[in-house]
Amino acid sequence: MLPTAATTQTLLATEDLRIRFGAREVVAGVGLELAKGRTLGVVGESGSGKTLTALAMLGLVPAPGMVSGSMRFEGQELLGLEEPDWRRVRGGRIAMVFQEPMTALNPTMRVGRQIAEAMVLHLGKSWHEADIEVLRLLDAVGIADAPARARAYPHELSGGMRQRAMIAAALAGRPGLLVADEPTTALDVTIQAQILDLLADLRAQTGMAMIFISHNLAVVGEIADEIAVMYAGRIVERASAERLLSSPRHPYTQGLIATLPNPEHRTERLATIPGHAGDRPATGCRFAPRCGRAEEACLAVEPALISVSAGHDVACVLA
Ligand SMILES: Nc1ncnc2c1ncn2[C@@H]1O[C@H](COP(=O)(O)OP(=O)(O)OP(=O)(O)O)[C@@H](O)[C@H]1O
Ligand code: SF4
Ligand SMILES: [Mg+2]
Repeated sequence: MLPTAATTQTLLATEDLRIRFGAREVVAGVGLELAKGRTLGVVGESGSGKTLTALAMLGLVPAPGMVSGSMRFEGQELLGLEEPDWRRVRGGRIAMVFQEPMTALNPTMRVGRQIAEAMVLHLGKSWHEADIEVLRLLDAVGIADAPARARAYPHELSGGMRQRAMIAAALAGRPGLLVADEPTTALDVTIQAQILDLLADLRAQTGMAMIFISHNLAVVGEIADEIAVMYAGRIVERASAERLLSSPRHPYTQGLIATLPNPEHRTERLATIPGHAGDRPATGCRFAPRCGRAEEACLAVEPALISVSAGHDVACVLA
């Protein structure tokens, strides 16, 4: 088959990605596709496997986790790479930002040096060239007084500044893909909005693609072109952001949307979907114990992700 325009633009494609710890499969067959320059939002509640899926893309699933399936990036299979090859990918073609910058930044190294290091390592720049580029990059991520900040240690920066510095470090190797795992969750609402704007701007300027992970569908909806909804290690629905938010087909997605805060009727407390993902039946749909529309057929076999319209896939017997 000749490659179509769509397939030649594919940057990352995972197929049947599985991660297990002993007998416990925590990511259970995830298929994601991302085109160059696009933003894919991954949403799901705590424990649904978002972070492990992201870590798998950087070869960072902790031992004794076992990863299987396929993960192709720029046409190359990543699963099975040896550590030296992962080091070339990581921080180079694929970079990641986390919720907590202190886990990503080295506390004993000046901020500017850490950013410069990625440029030397992945772009082959001299330290002198890199030091100049660092100032430009700090400026681009909205850090004022870049020369002073470059000389600072991470703990000398505020939370919002550290997040910006981590983003600068992630961008230093000019990645084709930035994986952002709950990058705004620990920040207060105003700074959250600034960081979201910054990521959207940087994505537009650099043409990189982004995977944006959050438990918060409202946040994901603001930044993503496409959204994948994860539940208990599986994708239960994926569609364009517009379609997913306006015509959700999976009862779990519908529940997530129903619990979004409504700016017109502010409630004290956010509603949640009752129950939790740990209550899982032995067979059939993982969401059945919490689903208001569950019927006998739901417990027979696990619903496969099927296409309900172009670019819109749902894993539910009702679809
Ligand atoms: N190192 C590990 N060893 C064993 N189990 C793990 C390990 N890391 C994660 N898990 C389990 O895998 C599941 C998915 O974890 P993961 O961190 O990917 O969830 P998440 O969707 O990112 O959740 P959160 O929103 O809380 O960040 C969880 O049940 C978790 O307990
Ligand atoms: S398959 Fe059944 S239990 Fe699962 S989400 Fe659909 S209706 Fe609910
Ligand atoms: Mg997580």
